[in-house]
Amino acid sequence: MGKNVQDPAKRTMLLTALYVAQEQNGYLTREALDRVAERLNTDLAQVYETATFYSMYRTHPSGRYVLQVCEGLSCHLAGGAELLAEYLQHKLHLRPGETTPDGLFSLELVECLASCGTSPAMRVNDTLYENLTIDRVEMILDELRGG
Ligand code: FES
Repeated sequence: MGKNVQDPAKRTMLLTALYVAQEQNGYLTREALDRVAERLNTDLAQVYETATFYSMYRTHPSGRYVLQVCEGLSCHLAGGAELLAEYLQHKLHLRPGETTPDGLFSLELVECLASCGTSPAMRVNDTLYENLTIDRVEMILDELRGG
């Protein structure tokens, strides 16, 4: 594959390979990153850089549900980002990057969920929630606990 992952086709291959690798353990282990780099003949540093740049990839173990709260500018201007983040931290007794002791929830703050027009937004694993209010977040948590 060469060293250059700026090539759109190669970049797509890398993103796909990382996605598939993450499915196996729920996060990208060092071994998985090594394997992707080897199979695509790419520098490990570039693979790692890509894995840590995109919010959809995780390089550490996480809870069953990963709550990604956007603290980007649009969500901030919509007046909800801090409220949601503070609510979740208080409700789940978590700081960003932590997982609840029961392994159910992890909290992450991210820069943008590509949902700026319908902010504030939060992603839970592969599901995006938009136009959020505290009440809706509470309902989502209740549903996840029961699921
Ligand atoms: S800034 Fe929040 S979705 Fe883009």
